[in-house]
Amino acid sequence: RERIGKLEWLIPEVDEMLGGGVETQSITEVYGEFGAGKSQITHQLSVNVQLPPEQGGLGGSVIFIDSEDTFRPERIEEMLFGLEDDVLQAAMDQREIEGSIDDEEARDELLQSFLDKIHVAKAFNSNHQILLAEKAQEIASEYEDSEFPVRLLCVDSLTAHFRAEYVGRGELANRQQKLNKHLHDLDRVGNLYNAAVVVTNQVQSNPDAFFGDPTKPIGGNILGHKSTFRMYLRKSKGNKRIVKLVDAPNLPDGEAVMRVTGEGLKP
Ligand code: GTP
Repeated sequence: RERIGKLEWLIPEVDEMLGGGVETQSITEVYGEFGAGKSQITHQLSVNVQLPPEQGGLGGSVIFIDSEDTFRPERIEEMLFGLEDDVLQAAMDQREIEGSIDDEEARDELLQSFLDKIHVAKAFNSNHQILLAEKAQEIASEYEDSEFPVRLLCVDSLTAHFRAEYVGRGELANRQQKLNKHLHDLDRVGNLYNAAVVVTNQVQSNPDAFFGDPTKPIGGNILGHKSTFRMYLRKSKGNKRIVKLVDAPNLPDGEAVMRVTGEGLKP
């Protein structure tokens, strides 16, 4: 069993709260209401994970299961070039890209290299999503001995298809069973290939519709057993967001503040 890796958000307050960053061999559930910025986190981590360990990354590639058509390459570009110059330079050196970070050709090459390492798969429905998680294991295996082994598996959103397809009380048990199987598959990729698994989950916008607590993720405690780290994301003033760590093993609960900017997530 490989040593657990820590993937940094590159936001000191958040990383400190997480004990160094998002852990590999674990599932991290990010939940929050519509527009809170859950997809901003999956995009930022898809950039950060590729950085060398000295820069907070894991020198790895990404499998991105996209169920809501949220993946945006332009956002990856903005976040990549929103990194500090020395971090960009380190990323260029790591990839043996010649030239300076001010050089347009070198920047294009760097961006292409980052995009190439994000394996995006769109999930059209919940069964397809389950299939893609099984497929993720094959992709992780394929890249295991490569220069950039898979170190991050994102599912954005984990629950949207399940919620849309399994409607009503009578379907709850069925939905839970399917989700559990799916999470088990995701967990296995994380464990076998030393990857961080990050899933997003939208909270109920109508607090009375489910269990009555707006801070409870959809599906109640469906993810309760599986997601080792649970993070609640909440809008604050302007571009500020509150990131709350809830029920993490061996870590105290806590809160941190970050901003969603044009250049990505910032302190
Ligand atoms: P759902 O998928 O709808 O549940 O939302 P989410 O939580 O995934 O939110 P998402 O990550 O889509 O973030 C939406 C918010 O992030 C917006 O309200 C903006 O504040 C911010 N945001 C998204 N894209 C950009 C961008 O390109 N530039 C800037 N500055 N902010 C952005």
